[in-house]
Amino acid sequence: MAIVAVTNRIPEVGLAKLRAEHEVRAWEHSECIPREEALRLIAGADAVLTLLTERVDGEFLDAAGPQLKVVANVAVGYNNIDVAACEAHGVIATNTPRVLTETTADTAFGLMLMVTRRFGEGERIIRSQTPWQWGMFYLLGMGLQGKTIGIVGMGQIGVAMARRAKAFGMTIEYADDYDPPAAALEGLDARKVSLDELFETADVVSLHCPYGPSTHHLVDAARLRSMKHTAYLVNSARGPIVDEDALVAALRAGEIAGAGLDVFENEPAVHPGLLELENVVLLPHLGSATTETRAAMAELAADNALAVLRGDPPITPVTKI
Ligand code: GLV
Repeated sequence: MAIVAVTNRIPEVGLAKLRAEHEVRAWEHSECIPREEALRLIAGADAVLTLLTERVDGEFLDAAGPQLKVVANVAVGYNNIDVAACEAHGVIATNTPRVLTETTADTAFGLMLMVTRRFGEGERIIRSQTPWQWGMFYLLGMGLQGKTIGIVGMGQIGVAMARRAKAFGMTIEYADDYDPPAAALEGLDARKVSLDELFETADVVSLHCPYGPSTHHLVDAARLRSMKHTAYLVNSARGPIVDEDALVAALRAGEIAGAGLDVFENEPAVHPGLLELENVVLLPHLGSATTETRAAMAELAADNALAVLRGDPPITPVTKI
């Protein structure tokens, strides 16, 4: 029997799978585990399940000890994991792709609808009991039909977003260093363009790329300036892909029409400038937040850890970005 440490609360279905085969030490509280506690909890563990709030670096791996075989992240993004340090320690890192694809695309699409149709503003008017009246020109937004969506990162979530956009009558362009499988693009009429062209031509730019050194501040002042004044930015990927200071400046100057954000540069802190702007929709990182999806993520992370502990290959190892 091996020891599996779980550094945060996760759905029972994942814990039950782990408990059936191994001794499980789990953090039981709803708030994130403090670093010192995490380092204590993982000492001597053969496998660790982590959330995106956990920094898995050399210190973490040393604290676990040389018997550690696998770090199973309960998230598709794994910028919280130092993959090179894992490799150096002989530790396999895994993530949870696929099971959260549709849910995360729903979140991105919801953000796009909310910001382009000004639903957040409308809700705030009602809740603040501000007087209002139906009017021909009242709170007009931008329709999506016939508009162009520019998808940055045509992985599984980018493709799922494109499918939704297609159903809404949008034209699809995307930028990526990699090509998705042809079957994934079938029926989308999606056009691959350069990042520059995408930012210059899209009516909505939606970010679906992983975060790493090559995508840090990918959306900076120059890129925002290159967008249409009428265009919107949607980010459901990772906060630091966008230079938040530059975004606030661009929104204040009217360089773009609005932004829908599920993620932030210094999460959970939100740039105070964003809070003052009506044309911004802000969500507290709800990308994969459904009961069903979180259960599937916990289960996949548990299966990854169990596979490695059994001596089998992991189901979804991370790939270097
Ligand atoms: C959530 O942001 C994830 O990466 O799974």
